[in-house]
Parts: sequence; C-alpha cells; structure tokens
Amino acid sequence: MSIKLLLEKANVPGIISYEVYRREGGYASVEKALRNMTPDQVTDEVKKSGLRGRGGAGFPTGLKWSFLAKPDGVPRHLVCNADESEPGTFKDRYLMEFLPHLLIEGLIVSSFALGSHHTYIYIRGEYAWIPDILEKAIAEAKENGWLGKNILGTGFDCEIYVHRGAGAYICGEETALIESLEGKRGNPRIKPPFPAIKGVWDRPTVVNNVESLAAVVPIINYGAEAYAKIGIGKSTGTKLISACGNINKPGVYEIDMTISVEDFIYSDEYCGGIAHGKKLKACIPGGSSVPILPANLLLKTAKGEKRLMNYESLADGGFATGSSMGSGGFIVLDEDQCVVKHTMTLSRFYRHESCGQCSPCREGTGWMEKILKNIEYGKGKMSDIDLLWDIQRRIEGNTICPLGDAAAWPVAAAIRHFRDEFEWHIRYPEEAQQRNFGLAHYADPLPAPQSA
Ligand SMILES: Cc1cc2nc3c(=O)[nH]c(=O)nc-3n(C[C@H](O)[C@H](O)[C@H](O)COP(=O)(O)O)c2cc1C
Ligand code: SF4
Repeated sequence: MSIKLLLEKANVPGIISYEVYRREGGYASVEKALRNMTPDQVTDEVKKSGLRGRGGAGFPTGLKWSFLAKPDGVPRHLVCNADESEPGTFKDRYLMEFLPHLLIEGLIVSSFALGSHHTYIYIRGEYAWIPDILEKAIAEAKENGWLGKNILGTGFDCEIYVHRGAGAYICGEETALIESLEGKRGNPRIKPPFPAIKGVWDRPTVVNNVESLAAVVPIINYGAEAYAKIGIGKSTGTKLISACGNINKPGVYEIDMTISVEDFIYSDEYCGGIAHGKKLKACIPGGSSVPILPANLLLKTAKGEKRLMNYESLADGGFATGSSMGSGGFIVLDEDQCVVKHTMTLSRFYRHESCGQCSPCREGTGWMEKILKNIEYGKGKMSDIDLLWDIQRRIEGNTICPLGDAAAWPVAAAIRHFRDEFEWHIRYPEEAQQRNFGLAHYADPLPAPQSA
C-alpha cells in the first residue's frame, strides 16, 4: 500500500471547505511552527527533510530558503509558482482544486520561515476557475485567524494574494513570473542577481512550486526525520505524478519514490497498463521538456537495473540513456504513436512560447519546427536530421533562460533514440503522409508545407 502525505485526505467528502479540513487536523503545522519554532528552525527542518523543489529542477528547498538575504527591515516575499503550463503536467491543479487549504497552510508556515508578510500565488490564466477556490480558502483562513495580523497572537502578520497570469508558458520561469507579477511583459531576467537577492520589486524573494510548498505541511507535522525516511537516496518524501497518454488510468498519483517505472505503468493502483492492450513504445517521464525514452531504456537503465520513479534513477545514464523527473508529467506513448509527429507538435509549442529575447531560442525553435514539419509531411531530406541535431545543440546552454534547453532536449532525444523513424519518413514520404500512426483522431491545425 502506498504512502500518502499530500493526498491522504483527498477523498474525504467536503475537504475543500475550511470546516472539514480543520476537523481532519488541518492547520496543525501552523500551530506547531508559529507557537513552538523559530523561523530558522522551520528552515532547518525543511533542509533536513531533503525536500527537493517539485517545479522541475529538483533544487533542495531548504537550501534555497537559506540563500534569502537576511532581514534588514526590507520586506521579503514568498511567491508560489502555480503557472503549471508544462505539457503533461497537471498535479498542482489537482492540489489547488481539491485541497486548497493544504496549499494555504503550507504557504503560511513557509511565509513564517522566510519572513514574508506579503505572499503571492501566481496562477496560470488558463486555470480560470481555480483563483476563486483559492480566494475562498484564503478568506476562510483569515476569518479563522490563520492569516492577517498577529496570527495566533504570535505577532506574525501575513497576507496571501492570488495573481492571475494571462496564459504564457514562459511566465512559469521564476524571473519571467516576477516580471509579470510586477505588471510587465513576462520576459526572463538575466541572472545574477538571483531572486533571493533581487526578486519582486527588487526585494529578496523565494519562488517555489505549489507541491513543494504543500509538502512543508507533512514535514512540520511528522518531522523532517520521518519525512526523509520515505523514499530513497536524495529522493525523499512522496512525489505527485500526473500520468497521461496511452494508459488505462490517467490521473494524478502520489508515489513513494522507491516504486519501479514498470510497476507504476502496469499496476492497477496507478496507470493500469497500456490502453487497448497495445505495447509500450516510449515515455516522457517528467513533462514535455525532458528527453523521451524508448521502452527498453525506460524500464531498465543502461546497466540493466530496474529503473525507479525517482530523481537519481530517472536521470541515470545522463541524457545519453536516461531522462529526468522534471515536473512529474508522465506522458506514455503506445506502439502506434509517431515520434516525428510528436516532436513536431512539441517544437511548435516551444516556438510559440519563446519570448524572443535571445536569437538561438527565437530563431532556433521556429527553424526546428519548420524542418520537423517538412519531415513529417514527406518533404524532408536526409541532411535535415543532422541539421536538426546541429540547431538543437547550438540552442542548448546558449540562452538567457532554460526554455531554450527545454526546446532542444526533446528534439535531441527523439533523434538519439528514434533516428530510424526520421529516416523512414524521408525514405518513404508517401507512406509517411498516409500513415497516421493512430493519430487520425487529431484535427491537425498545421497546414502542410507548400514547398520543400
Ligand atoms: C520555461 C519554464 C517554465 C517553468 N514553469 C514552471 C511552472 O509552471 N511551475 C513551477 O513550479 N516551476 C516552473 N519552472 C521552474 C521555475 O523557474 C522555478 O525553478 C520553480 O518555480 C522553483 O520552485 P521549486 O524550487 O519549488 O521547484 C519553469 C522554468 C522554465 C524555464
Ligand atoms: S531562452 Fe527563449 S524564452 Fe528564454 S529568454 Fe531566451 S528567448 Fe526568451
């Protein structure tokens, strides 16, 4: 039976309301932290828990908090990153929609640790119905004395504000998010200075993912030691995975990071196997930006060991034979799916979402999409494959923010592991155009290229 820390109460009827959440033991971590701990003790506890940021990069949360410039009378801010626009990722949505008080509780404890009296939730524009849920939870928390002035008579003041984004993937990147929160166009900033030194309105700021901040609640309730015992190696605690694609049971699952990828895909508790009895072809295990892995490398590492659903194991072998946990968006492809078409669709997304500040990303994403479109529509040349490889290599590491890398990695991995599929499209263009690889049900919004 799996361990549940975040979704433990998810199925309790009415848990979205303050009364039920509180009756089920909600807000106990606020009482514990504010009454019995100092802000530094809370930060130490998060450090000891080994919690790694759940937004994608997996950076240790407690360590990030300790980088924040010390209080010197200047306001400091905590910002909750609820932009969640990475294709395949929808775990934060689940938390906010069904357990809003868990996030608010985590935000209050984290704000206390960081000395943030004005804390923000930046939420993607497309989650149009969720700000109302969060604002209701904030109002209920305030009515019951968990927010506002002098919380629990401890002298700590805190307000939480919900800020709606306009709907841009780039606004999930922390410095673009900060720009957007300040009312400007969401263009990433050049770092340094990092947000811990100069963030929102030039004040020291910590940006953390929704799941990272919700995880602070069980860390404080059960203690860092107990939290760190769950999981394996540097993958402590539990992780939310949003599973989608050609599986029997898409959904959001909380996993103990000792489970194997194979068990996660095939067990009835999680994905329930590949839909329609088909074979597993490949998987993108951590959201659209991370490298795709063919079935053989997904289930076992290059060393022949069972691959596990955790940070170290998913990354084993580097990008040559491994991938990444990323944001936990687990996208499964069955044997009928076309990797070329899939990569083309992702490239179109990154081209559209590039903010355009740096040339390698602005020009490269559009160029890659064009070439992939040609190959997919039977107008490609063999030299296009090497050209694609060359373009992605020149984007990676040469841009202001990691969106450039995020656009390059899926192309690199698709060529690395499925080069024969690209060659097939080029050798047999007519068949490539006719064969739909099971994607006939997609209305393709891309016009076929007019010339080679
Ligand atoms: C293009 C791009 C989009 C991102 N989108 C998100 C997002 O939607 N949510 C998120 O938490 N982090 C996102 N990130 C990562 C953030 O920049 C940042 O690392 C994260 O919010 C830190 O939180 P964590 O330490 O709790 O993971 C994105 C990064 C990039 C480059
Ligand atoms: S990498 Fe792309 S998205 Fe990031 S700053 Fe440069 S142009 Fe903008």
